[in-house]
Amino acid sequence: MTDPRVLSQQLLDRLAGSGELTPVWSEAFAAVPRHQFIPDMIWTTHDAELVPLRRAENPQEWMQRVYGPAAVTVQVDDGHPLVPGRRGRYITSSASQPNVVVRMLDALDAQPGMRVLEIGTGTGYNAALLAHRLGGENVTSVEIDRDLAEHARRALATSGYPLAVITADGTRGYPPHAPYDRIMSTAAVQHVPYPWIAQTRPGGKILTPWGTHYHNGALVSFIVNRDGTAQGRIVGNVAFMFLRDQRIYASVDDEECDETTARKSQTTVTPYSVVGDYDASLAIGMKVPGCSVIVVPDPTVELTGTLWFVDPDTDSWANMHYQPHTCVYPIHQSGPRNLWDEVETAYHWWRQVGCPGPERWQIMITPEGQQVTLTETSALATTEWSIDPMSAVGPDHRDR
Ligand SMILES: C[S@@+](CC[C@H](N)C(=O)[O-])C[C@H]1O[C@@H](n2cnc3c(N)ncnc32)[C@H](O)[C@@H]1O
Repeated sequence: MTDPRVLSQQLLDRLAGSGELTPVWSEAFAAVPRHQFIPDMIWTTHDAELVPLRRAENPQEWMQRVYGPAAVTVQVDDGHPLVPGRRGRYITSSASQPNVVVRMLDALDAQPGMRVLEIGTGTGYNAALLAHRLGGENVTSVEIDRDLAEHARRALATSGYPLAVITADGTRGYPPHAPYDRIMSTAAVQHVPYPWIAQTRPGGKILTPWGTHYHNGALVSFIVNRDGTAQGRIVGNVAFMFLRDQRIYASVDDEECDETTARKSQTTVTPYSVVGDYDASLAIGMKVPGCSVIVVPDPTVELTGTLWFVDPDTDSWANMHYQPHTCVYPIHQSGPRNLWDEVETAYHWWRQVGCPGPERWQIMITPEGQQVTLTETSALATTEWSIDPMSAVGPDHRDR
């Protein structure tokens, strides 16, 4: 089955059936042909590597993926595949999952007549949906990668949405078309670039995926205040690739991590508690800046593996070996930071303050930087701590 009209209708039915496609966006989803925005070569995952899938060689699979429920990878390794044999290691651009696209458009709360800046044009598909509803003259989209921007420009023009696609670093916004009523980033940030606030009119909104080294998974909606600050709350759970200059570079080479010389201890805190629990890992990420967590399952034994905690900036690492039917886990720590101790302390703190969920966090942006605070459920009274998790740089390559 390769008829795009049939597949598009199936996609609409799926989104409508799950309650995700609201009437406000259904017309745009029905009108914009997703396949016209996806390049002829996409990438799929095989044995932990990314391999090309060409439309000409397998039109059926290509079309199924384009209208499927998953994100479609359209670029790897910033356009220069790193693995010999033209295979890719990292996803650097993708057309996001359709249900995430619709959720974000809903959360953006853009009304006809509003002016919108999109950061991260990618394929141009999301920009076309915005243009369909708001008018192409009201939408500007910025893409850092020249080839992607060029592809999107062509696809938008061919599909009847010739809006302004700017090849530039979106962290600077796009001053010539400011002020905007809405800014929407389709790449994640660890800290919101201040130009986005400066270029949004008071009362306007900024919607962006937001994350820490430890936890990439929050959709944050900011309201811009008259005094040039912005106040954000978490409104959803999404995981996106980070903006190019905010990527997180964390990896682990277990041969270089010598457990015999590491500090040894043990814990009864389960791996699930600090990694699998969304609310806990969100809080740990806020409290333990610069620490990434990497799960390495043992491919030969079920439910067995190692959790790594790494901070490349200070050359610190910790690990926890896990296996089923145990309640005590061995810990090794090395480097100037005791990363496991920090994670465990943050986890106990999170429990002590009542296991707050995402709705309790507030993110304030001022010209001086970003502040994250834990608030009471309804009022915005702050509790005992406030930190700035904008310490880090470097790639995380997820995109949902
Ligand atoms: C998830 S994709 C965007 C999907 C896109 N909105 C679509 O509809 O296909 C994220 C995009 O952000 C772009 N990007 C990353 N850093 C950027 C930056 N600093 N400025 C502008 N674009 C950036 C990437 O090149 C990538 O194309």
